[in-house]
Amino acid sequence: MPVACSDSAFPERQPRQSGEPAVLDAPQWRTPVSTSGAAESWFKTGGFTCFFTGLSGAGKSTVAKALASRLSALGFEVTLLDGDIVRKNLSSELTFSREHRDLNVQRIGFVASEISRHGGIAICAPIAPYRATRASVREMFDNVGKFFEIHVATPIEVCEERDPKGLYAKAHAGLIKNFTGIDDPYETPENPELALDTSREDVTAAVARIMDRLQNEGLVMMNSEEKRSNHAV
Ligand code: ADX
Repeated sequence: MPVACSDSAFPERQPRQSGEPAVLDAPQWRTPVSTSGAAESWFKTGGFTCFFTGLSGAGKSTVAKALASRLSALGFEVTLLDGDIVRKNLSSELTFSREHRDLNVQRIGFVASEISRHGGIAICAPIAPYRATRASVREMFDNVGKFFEIHVATPIEVCEERDPKGLYAKAHAGLIKNFTGIDDPYETPENPELALDTSREDVTAAVARIMDRLQNEGLVMMNSEEKRSNHAV
């Protein structure tokens, strides 16, 4: 049986009255964000994906999670595709051979591009060590939404010192083969949208910088009324 759509569920967009300020360039109706009394009022202009890449222990997951929390707190729907989560739920049969890493990263790209295609925000955080694979994932976003690549460029010495899972130690001891940065390559991104180093910048500052960039790109925007009042203080 067809479902009737009530006017209140899908209100008509009202034309702007003359004299009323043109507050938004982008179609505000696409993603209304309820901040329920929060101090900030943001909106999103379409689906997009933040794709973190970097060595194990670089801080990808930490910054990705903090970014997801920040966006969620502003009222956005966010899907986090962290490397470890994907390995457990989507790619559990895969190894760390080049072929399997490519497959893993392409799966992540595909899921993220579908999320973006439908207007959502995906945040991915795999190592994604190969340039060509990252480029092929970027291509999946043609005509879909913005692909925003963030290189977490924390130096390997710092990652090794952190070694949160003890994997660098195991790789050095020869207990793990083909470990990225030790006996497997990591091809540094040449033109990421953003690069950050978590040994020089704390998580809060990194997230603030990403939010600034997302705003400059017009992907998330602060309501101009809020902007005006911000400037007034
Ligand atoms: S990727 O190369 O396919 O993008 P992925 O992000 O899924 O790698 O790796 C997830 C996690 O697997 C890493 O953070 C790391 O802790 C762990 N890991 C286990 N074996 C390896 C390995 N050989 N190389 C790199 N990471 C590994």
